[in-house]
Amino acid sequence: MKVTVFGVGYVGLVQAAVFAEVGHDVVCVDVDENKIDDLKNGIIPIFEPGLTPLVTSNYDAGRLVFSTQPRHGVEHGDLIIIAVGTPPDEDGAADLSHVLSVATAIATHMQTPKIIITKSTVPVGTADKVRLKLREVLDELGKPTDFDVVSNPEFLKEGAAVGDCMRPDRIIIGTDSTKAESKLRELYAPFNRNHDKVIVMDIRSAELTKYAANCMLATKISFMNEMANLAEYFGADVEHVRRGIGSDPRIGYQFIYPGCGYGGSCFPKDVQALIRSAHAVGYPARILESVEAVNKEQKMKLFDYIYRHFNGHLAGKKVALWGLAFKPNTDDMREASSRVLMEQLWQAGATVQAYDPQAMDEAQRIYGSRSDLKLMGTKEAALDGADFLVICTEWQVFRAPDFPLIKEKLSEPLVFDGRNLYEPDRMLEYGLLYYAIGRGLSVQGHKL
Ligand code: UDX
Repeated sequence: MKVTVFGVGYVGLVQAAVFAEVGHDVVCVDVDENKIDDLKNGIIPIFEPGLTPLVTSNYDAGRLVFSTQPRHGVEHGDLIIIAVGTPPDEDGAADLSHVLSVATAIATHMQTPKIIITKSTVPVGTADKVRLKLREVLDELGKPTDFDVVSNPEFLKEGAAVGDCMRPDRIIIGTDSTKAESKLRELYAPFNRNHDKVIVMDIRSAELTKYAANCMLATKISFMNEMANLAEYFGADVEHVRRGIGSDPRIGYQFIYPGCGYGGSCFPKDVQALIRSAHAVGYPARILESVEAVNKEQKMKLFDYIYRHFNGHLAGKKVALWGLAFKPNTDDMREASSRVLMEQLWQAGATVQAYDPQAMDEAQRIYGSRSDLKLMGTKEAALDGADFLVICTEWQVFRAPDFPLIKEKLSEPLVFDGRNLYEPDRMLEYGLLYYAIGRGLSVQGHKL
């Protein structure tokens, strides 16, 4: 099938490459000339396991084409996917200007009927706005061309995006047109083989499904973080509680890991956007507001432990920081807990020596060179001359470190772990004072 994807961000690029891989003819359009040039030269703008060979092999095979020309994309695709960004505006609502400008470009250049698919995470009602915009521009240009608008949200996770796209657990098609439904079924047929994963619904329900999924997951995390905080007050260990409740299949083990808060490009933005949408229709969205408030506080948790441990005397401290990315297997630092922590440490007069397996370039891009941040080449180097260690991301390489070396290198045998990677008993054996989330030490200053 002939497919065009507008926007080569995470969603657009991964989805385009995966469509090309199963034999569809895909053109990707983006306004960013540098990005498109890089992609043509095999330089992939994001770190995502498995993506580079997928993009380059399909580009070489001619099934994946990159262009800065909307006309090229619109002429090519019978199905046109909008996968551009919807960044939050000043009050947290999703900014639709990129989506609507793609709609304008499509209407301007289309000569034959098209199926227009919104894949960006967009507030309920956006497909209607896209439809109106298309109609308005087509009318202005005197073109009676036919089109359908479909909502087809994606559910990929950074770090596992290629696998998620290749083996989706559901394919949501929001449409009121049987013709469009059958075209999308054909588009996704290669991914819908073992059992039917396609769920067809009206457009607004599809749009809300995407927000509901992310907000539910964010709610699970904030709920667990609240249990972790309570566990500290009650003298319980949240890791036991986690296993205890996860064994109930109605609750499940996934997404109940307490930690120093959720980040990334989706959860914080989508929770905020649904709150704003709810307010706009006069609904208070109390659960979502609490989810967001708990997460904001949770991102300050590590600093809270550190501040209390040192009675606020942090000026001149050198802090080893492991993990900058918002989660493992990505170089993405958007809304990462590490950023909140570093800002607080700097504010208190401490300096940071950081290491991350992938996000070093991103940290350099965000912070440039500043005297209170040193980016180190290895996790061991980050410990050199440091006073204590803080962990913000659960990269595999942090799971079994050389504990005696940590103790030897730090001026104080002190580890603050925002991802609960280690067993407090073992840390005690190594002679390390260990603060984890919801495990008691932070409140009592000794093992439970
Ligand atoms: C998420 C959704 O999982 C995905 O389905 C959607 O399409 C986009 O948003 P992503 O942002 O890539 O994906 O990351 P995810 O793996 O979901 O993690 C989000 C954040 O939650 C991370 O900061 C992670 O550390 C945190 N998290 C996750 C927890 O704190 N505890 C958990 O139990 C799980």
